[in-house]
Amino acid sequence: MQQAGDVLRIGRFERTFENELVARYQTPKLPDGPERARFLAEHAADIRAVVSSGPPGVDANTIAALPNLEVIVNNGAGVDSIDLEAAKRRGIGVSNTPDVLSDTVADTALGLILMALRRFGAADRYVRAGRWLRDGPFPYARDVSGLRVGILGLGRIGSAIAARLLGFDCAIAYHNRHRIDGSPYRYAESPLELAESVDVLIIATTGDHTTRNLVDRIVLEALGPEGYLINIARGSVVDQEALVELLAGGGLAGAGLDVFVDEPNVPTELFDLDNVVLLPHIGSATERTRRAMALLAIRNLDSYLSTGELVTPVLQPRR
Ligand code: 8YV
Repeated sequence: MQQAGDVLRIGRFERTFENELVARYQTPKLPDGPERARFLAEHAADIRAVVSSGPPGVDANTIAALPNLEVIVNNGAGVDSIDLEAAKRRGIGVSNTPDVLSDTVADTALGLILMALRRFGAADRYVRAGRWLRDGPFPYARDVSGLRVGILGLGRIGSAIAARLLGFDCAIAYHNRHRIDGSPYRYAESPLELAESVDVLIIATTGDHTTRNLVDRIVLEALGPEGYLINIARGSVVDQEALVELLAGGGLAGAGLDVFVDEPNVPTELFDLDNVVLLPHIGSATERTRRAMALLAIRNLDSYLSTGELVTPVLQPRR
């Protein structure tokens, strides 16, 4: 049975969620800096469960420092901030929050496409700077309707993006590790083949060691000077250095980016580029969706503590 103080919080939580965790489970927060070692020396052995949200996540050292850890409940779909290998070796269960955020993240992708191609952000800045009056009409942009769009990672979020793009009469292709039986969309054998054949490449794959730099310089060059990159997944999936270089040098037409390699650091070279839309990782950040994620995380924790089972496991706990 759960006891006071056996659930630990790591990361940053919305106030309501945090209050709820504290009220229900008396969760202490893992401190940073020198406080951390002191906290672990005193409490590490009591901790059975961790609830993690965003950075810094739960790395192998943190797992090693918690000898009685049984489960990690992640507040997010992507579990790249958790060392799954280390958790697996110890039989520690890991859960995430799939499905409840797919529509909201897909909406973000559509927003980025519209902003990047129709240049709505740049047009807004144009009006605010008084340039409409001074310089005349804003230059023409690119149509979104009827585009050829490639989706890298046709999972839950990728599929929700595709469904929305059908409303824009887009021709949709995708690349996954495996072709999806019965999918209505064209399958490309590789990220390169996908990039070569589309106007917009959308990254919707998971970010882990298997997808690191999957969109490398060669793939970006194949997308070409008329092509756009949209990323709502993880910065690690793209060679960010090559991306910045190509965007600055005309090797790509533009990009819409919600995620970066080293958040919240964004390459400053991008700040001056009007063909790039930059968002501060807000893919799932609506009141309703963040609440649904929090509730699903709590369901996982409650379920594990009362039955030993996770509701949406990424790794089942081994007992
Ligand atoms: C959150 C996300 O920003 O679910 C994910 O994988 O990237 C976002 O929805 C993140 O999980 C922090 O809570």
